[in-house]
Amino acid sequence: MIFGLGVWQIVDAKETIALAHDILTTSCLSQAFSATFNKTNALSEWLGVGGVLERQSHKDNHMLSYRHGFHAGNHADVFKHLVLTLLVRSLLNKEKPFFYLDTHSGAGSYNLESAMARKNREYETGITRLWGLEDVPDDVKEYLNIVQTVNPDHELRWYPGSPRIVRHYLRPKDRMILCELHPNEADNLAAEFAGDRQVKVEHQDGYAGLKALLPPPERRGLVHIDPAFELQDERHRLLEALKEGYRRWPTGIFAIWYPLQDRYVADDFLRRLKRSGIPKILMTEFSILNSMDTLRLFGSGMVIINPPWQLDEQLQSLLSWLWQKLGVEGQGGYKVEWLVGE
Ligand SMILES: C[S@@+](CC[C@H](N)C(=O)[O-])C[C@H]1O[C@@H](n2cnc3c(N)ncnc32)[C@H](O)[C@@H]1O
Repeated sequence: MIFGLGVWQIVDAKETIALAHDILTTSCLSQAFSATFNKTNALSEWLGVGGVLERQSHKDNHMLSYRHGFHAGNHADVFKHLVLTLLVRSLLNKEKPFFYLDTHSGAGSYNLESAMARKNREYETGITRLWGLEDVPDDVKEYLNIVQTVNPDHELRWYPGSPRIVRHYLRPKDRMILCELHPNEADNLAAEFAGDRQVKVEHQDGYAGLKALLPPPERRGLVHIDPAFELQDERHRLLEALKEGYRRWPTGIFAIWYPLQDRYVADDFLRRLKRSGIPKILMTEFSILNSMDTLRLFGSGMVIINPPWQLDEQLQSLLSWLWQKLGVEGQGGYKVEWLVGE
């Protein structure tokens, strides 16, 4: 029972340790939900990444408890959404329609004045620092314009999630499918896009979506995989589902976000991805703090399969600028590297 290792493919001793660490960290979370932490915010304080708890029965939702509203607009969101805008914009270069799949969509947009967002004010590590800046690179200007569209009176009150950001770029011939498993978030998402014929909201497991929805008839497009990393076997499930999705659609762009909270766990994930047999993988990371302890989200990363031409160069210059704005007292940094070449 202890870590359910039977379902894992253990390849070497190093990986075993990392898997156990990964599972131990997340199983601590699960236990915490059920018994140890009685206050809603105790675990989030322990994690140092902001509240993730919502007290409710998790029986039917595989212990789903993460709410992105606590984290909306933080440094990891800004980094992820900037990368996302570069990817979607690359799809506009051709006339042919494209398809976008968001496997873990969240609510679609977030009220930064809600109790959830104000609990740890994580947006102050990200969007707040960019809001109102005038002398910004063109790529950042594009992204800030989108944030502006949900804040028409120029006060920063709302933050757009990945579905809202990508929706901004959809031409009438393009379409998107949004998967979300948490019932409340799925409802919010459905309300956000009610009546929008180019957007389909699915209250379903995004990993199953990778199998059921790929390849799309458009044959060009982007899959965004942005899990909450709250379940015991999340990285394993992600890799297995990704391999299946890639097998079905080897020409699609896949962008996968991962947290930088424990360097060892992140490196193990990257090592396993490298061994997956999938070619053409670009990796980029962005952090605002040095990795001093394993309980704090110091940064995040994205791996991009089939990245558009010259994305690596674009990211180098964008992240250099971003780090100057968001890095805390010279800490953290950024990386753009090919994990696997062609
Ligand atoms: C990090 S948030 C998504 C944020 C969003 N992509 C954005 O950038 O605005 C992860 C979301 O995945 C949802 N989720 C967790 N497991 C899921 C699964 N297996 N399938 C679909 N959604 C899932 C959570 O409820 C949460 O809303």
